Parts: sequence; C-alpha cells; structure tokens
Amino acid sequence: MIRKAKIKDSKQIQDLVNAYAKEDKMLSRSLNDIYEHIRDFFVYEDEEGNIQGCCAMHIVWDNLAEIKALAVSAEFSSHGIARDMVQQCMSEAKALGIKKTFALTYVNGFFKKMGFKEIKRDNLPHKVWRECIYCPKFPGCDEIAVEKDLG
Ligand SMILES: CC(C)(COP(=O)(O)OP(=O)(O)OC[C@H]1O[C@@H](n2cnc3c(N)ncnc32)[C@H](O)[C@@H]1OP(=O)(O)O)[C@@H](O)C(=O)NCCC(=O)NCCS
Repeated sequence: MIRKAKIKDSKQIQDLVNAYAKEDKMLSRSLNDIYEHIRDFFVYEDEEGNIQGCCAMHIVWDNLAEIKALAVSAEFSSHGIARDMVQQCMSEAKALGIKKTFALTYVNGFFKKMGFKEIKRDNLPHKVWRECIYCPKFPGCDEIAVEKDLG
C-alpha cells in the first residue's frame, strides 16, 4: 500500500535510502533531514507493516517540484512500486498547482518511461543545489537532470 509517510517511518526510510547510498546509488540522509521533510514523503508499506519503498516530492518554487529520495527494496522491485510512488508525487504537485517536476538521477531510463525528458542541469535554479554540497561527489556531480510538465 502506498501512503503518505508518518514520523514513525523515518528510521526505515533512512535504512532503505542509506543502504543504496552505500552503493553510491543515491545521497545518504540523516534522520534529522528525514524528520524535517517527512511531509514530502510517500512510502510503500508491505503487508507486515514494513517500509519497502519511499519517494519524496519537494517544492522548490511556485512552478517547480523535485522528485527525490526514490528507493524500492530489492525484494519488492519490478512490481511498479516506484512508478506508482512517483505518480502519487506528481499528482500531489499538480493538485498544489505546480506546473513542472524534475529529478536528478542515475536511473534516467526509469524516468524516461515515466515521461520525463533529459535537460541540461544548468537550466535548474541554483536553489536546487543547496543539499548537493553535502554529497561526497560535489562538485563533480554525474547525475542526469530530467523534467516533466504536469500539464
Ligand atoms: C530504480 C528503482 C527505484 C526502481 O524501482 P521499481 O519499483 O523496481 O521500478 P518499477 O517496477 O516501478 O519500474 C517501472 C518501469 O521502469 C523500469 N525500470 C525500473 N528500473 C529501471 C532502471 N534502473 N533503468 C531503466 N528502467 C527501469 C521498469 O522496467 C518498468 O518498466 P515497464 O513499465 O516497461 O515494465 C529501484 O530499482 C531502486 O530503488 N534502485 C536503487 C536506488 C535508486 O537508484 N534510486 C533512484 C534515485 S533517483
């Protein structure tokens, strides 16, 4: 079941994200960061009540939201969970009146299937790079920027 995250999910979200961060697949997150942004998150909860997926929609500006912290456990991959979570994030952004979403990603193939188009990273507002300074790869970022109009 996909639902909005609750504060009690924070540790499981962190474990999921940081396991992939150790493999260099995404940025690691502190509990502090997850607590502060818990309202951004959707999670996928399995039948035993464990969190097996997460995805966040973060508002950047009046016309732009970022899809971030997308992860699905290996056990639950290829079931369309990431697709459905991203869809929920985009629906929430659209309902708020936001016109465009973007992501910085290594899995651009996944986002292309979701209708995102590759863009130049330089086209994104500087504000987007605020948390990048905490990334060990900064300033040599090799993530690909993708965006999608919400219509
Ligand atoms: C990438 C990830 C989120 C995909 O989750 P998932 O739930 O297995 O993906 P879905 O089942 O929703 O896939 C939806 C579609 O995207 C495709 N897809 C999934 N992962 C893909 C990838 N890495 N590259 C290209 N296409 C991909 C699927 O084949 C599927 O296509 P279909 O509709 O034609 O069958 C998951 O593998 C993951 O957590 N990876 C590690 C962390 C990571 O890279 N996060 C992204 C950070 S931006």
